[in-house]
Amino acid sequence: MDWGVSNRVSRIMRGGRTVMLAVDHGYFQGPTTGLENPRKTITPLLPYADSLMLTRGVLRTSVDPEHPVPVVLRASGGTSILKELSDEGVTTSMDEAVRLNASAVAVSIFVGGEKERQTLLNLSELVNEGERLGMPVLAVTAVGREMERDARYLGLACRIAAELGARIVKTYYCQDFEKVVGGCPVPVIIAGGKKVPEREALQLAYSAVSKGAAGVDMGRNIFQSSDPVGMIRAVRAIVHDGSTVDEAAKLLAGPKAARA
Ligand code: 5RP
Repeated sequence: MDWGVSNRVSRIMRGGRTVMLAVDHGYFQGPTTGLENPRKTITPLLPYADSLMLTRGVLRTSVDPEHPVPVVLRASGGTSILKELSDEGVTTSMDEAVRLNASAVAVSIFVGGEKERQTLLNLSELVNEGERLGMPVLAVTAVGREMERDARYLGLACRIAAELGARIVKTYYCQDFEKVVGGCPVPVIIAGGKKVPEREALQLAYSAVSKGAAGVDMGRNIFQSSDPVGMIRAVRAIVHDGSTVDEAAKLLAGPKAARA
């Protein structure tokens, strides 16, 4: 790996593992619950995030430039929840990513989606530019409503992302997840998905890292929790310290939350 790419990846992955905080939802969902005021949500969580995944708009307005958190800059978009989600283009240039001192850029691919080819070419374009400038590209395997989130489908999407040059792939946890990781030659991290009870989300993180995930890129299950700081600390304990779900749940505020 080129030194610049390698250095940037190592800012995101601490000892090969990462707790990435995803707060990019607004780029197609608008003011998502819990993210109405991004600065208010993000600030208390920053000390516990290995990196922050967000758009340039939220970065500029809601994160202090003095803060050392590595940035994974969302660089694809151009659609909304009101339209065909796979119809994405590249929204943020590599020059902009360098100017914002990003540690990686993120782009969604919609394998099997209506605009599959377009999104795979978005990834390829960013990889071509990124490799020139030493900027790793993280591919997000977005799943259309009609797709089954099973190991066969997610394995296909992750492998294509890696083959096209993604340095890190973000996908969803599924049964037989080890097959997804086994078929993908770059680190795989998981999204949290829609909000579920805290213990369930911790179990998801635990199962994923047990089956080879390099960590999480989690959003709603952290910032929509009744105890966001406790939740990110609990996720960290699983990803970085090898804690069990029971051990991690002790970091949540109060016995009620720990049982949730
Ligand atoms: C949207 C994204 C989100 O960052 C991703 O879904 C992670 O957030 P969550 O844990 O809330 O699912 O990439 O395409």
